[in-house]
Amino acid sequence: MVETLTGHNRSNGISYNEILESDTVPPPAIFLEDSPMEPGVTTVETHRYWTKEEHDREVERLWKRVWQMACHKDDIPNVGDTHVYDIAELSFLIVRVSETEIKAFPNSCMHRGRAICDNHKQGQKALRCPFHGWSWELDGTLKEVPCQWDFPSVSKKTHSLQDVRVGEWGGFVFINPDPNCEPLEDFLGDLDRHFQIPFERRFVAAHLVKRLPCNWKIAQEAFMESYHVVGTHPVLMPAFGDANSKYDVWHNVSRAMSPDGPPSPHTDFENPNPESFPDGKAFQSFIHPISKHTFRRLEENRVEVSMPNGKSGIFDMYANYIEGDLKSADLHMCNWVGGKIAPGEEDTPIAYNDEPMRVFRDRAAKARREEMRPAWGIWLIISAMLI
Ligand code: FES
Repeated sequence: MVETLTGHNRSNGISYNEILESDTVPPPAIFLEDSPMEPGVTTVETHRYWTKEEHDREVERLWKRVWQMACHKDDIPNVGDTHVYDIAELSFLIVRVSETEIKAFPNSCMHRGRAICDNHKQGQKALRCPFHGWSWELDGTLKEVPCQWDFPSVSKKTHSLQDVRVGEWGGFVFINPDPNCEPLEDFLGDLDRHFQIPFERRFVAAHLVKRLPCNWKIAQEAFMESYHVVGTHPVLMPAFGDANSKYDVWHNVSRAMSPDGPPSPHTDFENPNPESFPDGKAFQSFIHPISKHTFRRLEENRVEVSMPNGKSGIFDMYANYIEGDLKSADLHMCNWVGGKIAPGEEDTPIAYNDEPMRVFRDRAAKARREEMRPAWGIWLIISAMLI
């Protein structure tokens, strides 16, 4: 059983709202808003994660009934572009019908149910099933049936593709298989107020997909919390308030925010260590802020780990022992310090001062703004050329 205690306790030290309130540039008001989530204990039975019965229940009661993001409009920029969206054993076809209209259909032929499209396509003039060649106009109207004389009961009225509900938000295309569902706008509520830069002004620069061999909720939950930072990303702790994170829930919308700048409350957060990276390089050495073990890269796949009491050992990037007095080491740190480094990143500098958090955050925010400025410059130029 997984038990989640919500609302009763919080970390020592400064809260997320107090961090924001001390910033030089005032934050958007919504960042300081707390959701009206009632504190309490939530238990989740483990069968929810692995039983066939639960999976089937989710298909019937969730995936067939909920608004879900199927693609981005940039995935189907031109008329005739199609995108295949698969969820559980369900498959849907998202189609750019015109410059202003996107439709969705079950990706299943009205003849014998073969998938109409096996993968995404561009510039289709019609939707054609590859089995016997039935075809439909882009708007789903039945177009052609080979040997139609053998199908007297088949017509546009009976065998056009069935519309699936479609909605758009922020450039993302959503579908809902339930024809009686609430409008997407009602489902999302006032989601827009959480974003200072509307999503419509953003574009897809890259699209990465990673298939994880786990239940979808396991993956989803891993990206909804900072609780794993202390175990999995200790390198962040010198300047990341993992346990200061703020979680809010409003109806169908939830939000998680974690502050850069303050040391983790798991550490001696009132006395940050400016020498967490002894070499001043992000991937060459690191002092674990809790164990105080020093990890130093000797070469790729070879890490020296030393304790404050003088014991030391050599490990590979997977924390497998090679030699020395010390026989075990932190896996994630061995991987960080001894793993592959992208070419050109070997000496990436990193340094922390023991400056006050407010000063640190102000300096870091200015640096980030400068970092982003050239990209926006290019974007503005592209926009001007398009106009
Ligand atoms: S199954 Fe599609 S045309 Fe026959």
